[in-house]
Amino acid sequence: MPDRFDLPVDFRWGAATAAYQIEGAVEEDGRGPSVWDAFCARPGAVRDGHTGAVACDHYHRYPEDIELMKGLGLDGYRFSIAWPRVLPTGGGAVNPAGLAFYDRLVDALLEAGITPLPTLFHWDLPQALEDEGGWLDRDTAYRFAEYTGVVADRLGDRVPAWITLNEPFVHTVFGYALGTHAPGRTLMFEALPAAHHQLLGHGLAASLLHERGLEVMLSNNLTPVEPASGSAEDAAAAAAYDALHNRLFTDPVLLGRYPDLSALGVPDDIFGAVRPGDLDLIHTPGLDGLGLNFYNPTRVAAPTEPGLPFDLVGIPDVPHTAFGWPVVPDALTRLLVGLRDTYGKALPPVTITENGCSVTEETVPDQPRIDYLAAHLDALARAAAEGVDVRGYYTWSLLDNFEWAEGLFSQRFGLVHVDFETQKRTPRASYAWYRDLIAAHRKRSAR
Ligand code: FCB
Repeated sequence: MPDRFDLPVDFRWGAATAAYQIEGAVEEDGRGPSVWDAFCARPGAVRDGHTGAVACDHYHRYPEDIELMKGLGLDGYRFSIAWPRVLPTGGGAVNPAGLAFYDRLVDALLEAGITPLPTLFHWDLPQALEDEGGWLDRDTAYRFAEYTGVVADRLGDRVPAWITLNEPFVHTVFGYALGTHAPGRTLMFEALPAAHHQLLGHGLAASLLHERGLEVMLSNNLTPVEPASGSAEDAAAAAAYDALHNRLFTDPVLLGRYPDLSALGVPDDIFGAVRPGDLDLIHTPGLDGLGLNFYNPTRVAAPTEPGLPFDLVGIPDVPHTAFGWPVVPDALTRLLVGLRDTYGKALPPVTITENGCSVTEETVPDQPRIDYLAAHLDALARAAAEGVDVRGYYTWSLLDNFEWAEGLFSQRFGLVHVDFETQKRTPRASYAWYRDLIAAHRKRSAR
């Protein structure tokens, strides 16, 4: 059995999912519509017209899914809470039936010996808030804090640590700049107030959680950015992209300031969104952990046409996942060591809150996923050996699920295969591999 991943003895093993990607039951028990329900209804928005209306039907089948988690021997399970289940119109009246679902889920997880790690916002904004401007509207940050208070009051007695946001970069850029994800806005850099308001929401929620004695993390999608050549132009393009993808979401939280965004043509106050005092609210010196969602590095060249200040170029000569994402495990070591070097003492302990690889085929043998996970765990262990404080690893994902704009069938990320017609779950080869890996690490740690 794999015994070579030299990770800390109290390292935590987990798996991750998100509400809209697995729950289904979108019209049940008083859940309000989310931006993803509306986006899926747009012709052509999602591959094959798929939606998350049923997805893995986890809302009803969660006991079976917890059995699968138990079978893996997970320490923790990262899931997200659907804001529109709890507050169907985003704020105001609480929906007791929606809250009760998470209550049952948390109790069942604890009963199985698995620590719940909820994410408060994994992209399914209540549509009623989108109708008021969504994350472009400052008030959404305050509604997010209100929602955080409601769920923390209900679950905080049993849930020790919370993730505020999932990947504000991806949500801002795909959802508000490019329009390939909900809510489907195409504002290019003028989308960035949505980033600021998410970060403000994070800051407000973090204070509320800390006041209740709870731990707080933020999950960012980070990517090491490499210039395509040694030229000064490529280096400048890489720096501009790094500011947008990485620093915009980590500098304000860890250092209390935004990076220089002038190369993107974005003013210091992010088009008037940043008000005096906001950075003090966003800065979270007591952040208990940085959640890192890692999939691949990014290679960047100087632009060949006017428009964006960078071109994203491919990384040839490496394997690619079914999604077409380059597989470069060393980049994870570089990223982690780079974060430590950049942020020093301001960097909290890191937990990998997503990492995984999609396969297109329906099949249960999934050696490419095993290879991907093994190589990334090796890369993580190398970062740990270099002194980076890494605390846990939550693989994406427990189950095949609704992969956003890619729909249900084309990108399968699960350790467990899901037949979306019958809802039959079939553990893949990677499931047994991960189970044995966790057991081997535990055994070694107990010695
Ligand atoms: C991440 C998302 C997650 C999943 C993976 C593949 O960006 O956070 O929901 O879709 O990508």
